[in-house]
Amino acid sequence: MEEARSHRVLIVDDEENVLKALKRTFMEDGYRIDTYSSPLDALGFIEKEKVSAIISDFKMPDMNGLDFLLKTREKLPDCVRVILTGHANLDTAIKAINSGAVYGYLTKPWDNDEIRIFLRNALKNYDLERENKRLAGLLDMRNKELEEINKNLEARVKEQTRFITDQFNKLKVTFMETVKAFSKTVELRDPDLGAHMGRVASLSRSIAMAMSLDGQELQDTVVAAWLHDIGKIGLPDVLLRKDENNLNSEESGLLREHPALGELCLMGIPGFEDVSTIVRHHHERYNGSGYPDSLYEKYIPLGSRIINVADTFDRIVYSRGYGHPELVDKAWNYIKGFSGKLFDPEVVKALGDVENLWRRSIKRLDMARKVSLDNLEPGFVLAEDVKTKSGLLLLPKGMRLNKLHIMRIKNFHSAKAIKGWLLVLRQMDK
Ligand SMILES: [Fe+2]
Ligand SMILES: [Fe+2]
Repeated sequence: MEEARSHRVLIVDDEENVLKALKRTFMEDGYRIDTYSSPLDALGFIEKEKVSAIISDFKMPDMNGLDFLLKTREKLPDCVRVILTGHANLDTAIKAINSGAVYGYLTKPWDNDEIRIFLRNALKNYDLERENKRLAGLLDMRNKELEEINKNLEARVKEQTRFITDQFNKLKVTFMETVKAFSKTVELRDPDLGAHMGRVASLSRSIAMAMSLDGQELQDTVVAAWLHDIGKIGLPDVLLRKDENNLNSEESGLLREHPALGELCLMGIPGFEDVSTIVRHHHERYNGSGYPDSLYEKYIPLGSRIINVADTFDRIVYSRGYGHPELVDKAWNYIKGFSGKLFDPEVVKALGDVENLWRRSIKRLDMARKVSLDNLEPGFVLAEDVKTKSGLLLLPKGMRLNKLHIMRIKNFHSAKAIKGWLLVLRQMDK
């Protein structure tokens, strides 16, 4: 009954007695009933009021019942539409039901109980459909909310991931820049040595990548290469500038300490445990003839075996104090010749795999060339010591010129103390 009271039923018939009879019948079920004898008035009514069901006579003078019911569809799309018809128009009513325009029909004369049950069922159906729609709407709303939350969540995760990746990359760059800066401080002590470590790092990286090293192992190898000769900082100047083949036994003993000194420098830095070990062993030889521990083959850390090859290659190419393209083949043949003896054959193979890379980078190196003082540019590197005619050393070989150096050189030239040209290299590959 409670439910029934919530339903409003509109009955339209041009015969007043039919309206009264139907109203009486349906009121027993507790519906709120509105009756109209004119379909036009009924249309006016539904403009303002909502109803759950409309029962309309078929034959009316103003408008036929089907046309009237069709007109109510726009205003009340979900309402139960029932046509009240005599047997003569039953076919038309059935067609209207089949086309979906009306829900059902009642025939005149009717049985009171039958039509009450009919309307009760029709309204139950109406309630169910409305509930379905309400739930579907709710579901749709929840889905949209969920979609929105997901979208936001996805965006937030993406944003966070981007932020963390950015920070990580920045940290990585900062870390590598710190390592390079550390390595470059060696240049203050000895420009050649600093430049050598940079080049060895670059070649070691190419070899390591050709050997499919990645992640921490690759990073440790490159960092160790940047710092591999850091232990030479403490060596006396004379020793640093002397050809390694012309050292006496005391000097050579001192030189052989640099891998262990390098390890000592780095081993206290958290996270540098592997780096310092690689540095310690960068002069070991594959056949065990190296130093400081005479390790051999796979007992030598892979990073050290890689740096050893890159280091040997670089020392041969730069054996005249500056990079000499003609020495590239000499270095390559030497290393190939001692593959499996002094050098790990797999590292030698990887050096061969990146041949294009080092040939190209060596091509970029200038051979030492004469440049008149007027054409000197900051960044040029001296290929020989600059001395006055009386033999006083003004600037050492390997110095990277800046504006001040150039001014100083020109001043000495104006005073006729030095010649009008210098032997220089362009900015060297690092
Ligand atoms: Fe070394
Ligand atoms: Fe070295």
